[in-house]
Amino acid sequence: MKVSVSQNELATADADFVAIGLCEGEELPAELASARGAADAKGSFKKLAMIHPEQPVRVLVAGLGKREDLDAERLRVAAALVAKEAGKLSAGSLAWALPEGDDADALAEGIVTGTILGAYRFDRFKSKDAEDAESASLDSLTLLGPESISAASEAARVCAEAQNRARDLQSLPSNVATPSYLADRAEEIAAAHDLLSVELFGREEIAAKEMGGLVAVSQGGAEDPRLIVLRYENGGSGETLGLVGKGVTFDTGGISLKPSAGMQEMKMDMSGAAAVLETVGAIAELGLKLNLVAVVPSTENMPSGTAIKPGDIITQYTGKTVEVNNTDAEGRLILADALAYAIEQGADRVVDIATLTGAVMIALGSTYAAVISNDDDLAGQVEAAGQETGELVWRLPLHAEYKALMKGTVADLTNAAPKRKAGTISAAGFLEEFVGDTPWAHLDIAGTAWDVGREYTGSDASGYGVRLLTGLARALAG
Ligand code: BES
Ligand code: ZN
Ligand code: MN
Repeated sequence: MKVSVSQNELATADADFVAIGLCEGEELPAELASARGAADAKGSFKKLAMIHPEQPVRVLVAGLGKREDLDAERLRVAAALVAKEAGKLSAGSLAWALPEGDDADALAEGIVTGTILGAYRFDRFKSKDAEDAESASLDSLTLLGPESISAASEAARVCAEAQNRARDLQSLPSNVATPSYLADRAEEIAAAHDLLSVELFGREEIAAKEMGGLVAVSQGGAEDPRLIVLRYENGGSGETLGLVGKGVTFDTGGISLKPSAGMQEMKMDMSGAAAVLETVGAIAELGLKLNLVAVVPSTENMPSGTAIKPGDIITQYTGKTVEVNNTDAEGRLILADALAYAIEQGADRVVDIATLTGAVMIALGSTYAAVISNDDDLAGQVEAAGQETGELVWRLPLHAEYKALMKGTVADLTNAAPKRKAGTISAAGFLEEFVGDTPWAHLDIAGTAWDVGREYTGSDASGYGVRLLTGLARALAG
């Protein structure tokens, strides 16, 4: 979407329609007060009313609720509703008058993010009928506001568009978005930016590296796995942030097969990978001053005659042994290798993001992702980025007793806690075995990656994590 900032007045805005916000108990601007329909304009949050002054011809009034509650998140929601209205009207361009507020940059971010995410649709597999072919889609947003919001608006555009690309990856079916497809996408991202480089490893190279977790999970499937490594160098001799994303392109559960009802959703088990890949692209596009190493282990989890079986013992990249008592707890096996690899490759702190446990959905629904960390500073930075972006995280505790749940009977570790105790935390306790003393934060996004139902995330792929991780990188950058 084309995003620009203009100092035009409402009446001279050049767009198919103009949106303005209205807070509860406040009046429309004087020039709109006598417009046809003005009496219907209400400030209650999420209420929309189209009014018809003389110039411009159409103004959509979006209720923003109480003035004291006005923040970026409210505007993301309101802007998404406006963008959906634009879709119904087949409007190709929209101007938004920036509301009054203390933090103009934050409000501008909210409008840009909400518009771009709210206008998103995944329709590339739908045959087009004549009507679709005619209707324009929203491709231009003009913010009516001071020049000073340009940088914040542009940054918001970059992040929201990266998030929509992550949503595409999530939505693509597993016969399209294979591990090699994700690898191709990583190559494309790296090719677009000078400071980015990529390395890709296939089945044999993964085996030669003795990444026993990724070998074990991929051995049941015909689709070639990939270890994807992206590097971004723009921080001189400063620290390196590691990002690790779970890239299971389809999770059947393996021999510990999942029930068939709803299994089609498991094409989204690469949502962490999608978030990491597109975050790296956004960071490069923004030119943030830091060093990054991103590691994405990608594979299918399939049952077959060559698949890993319950009770099999594997040796992870670090040399630790694991009894695979449940082949459906595959994410932690591939993340363990990838985390250790990221640290070996120079990450001074590392964040992993993964659709790791169904249990996180029971604990936190789709509103918060879980964050589990061995480092209060890093956890705090992730929480702050969550508040700023609306991609919320809630910290869950680590405790030696949770780690004890992951002790193996005949190997060092088991991949599944007995009696499914503390599903989300015990999975993190397993991962902690592979990060040593490196500051680490684990994000479990099984609840927030899909079907969030917020106005700007929709009811399928949310792209969760792109704005959170980019926000974190921005906070860490010099
Ligand atoms: N990919 C799933 C987790 C998941 C569930 C993601 C629902 C998205 C929606 C993961 O690999 C898994 O199967 N986890 C198991 C772990 C258990 C066997 C210890 C789970 O949560 O049931
Ligand atoms: Zn999985
Ligand atoms: Mn699984």
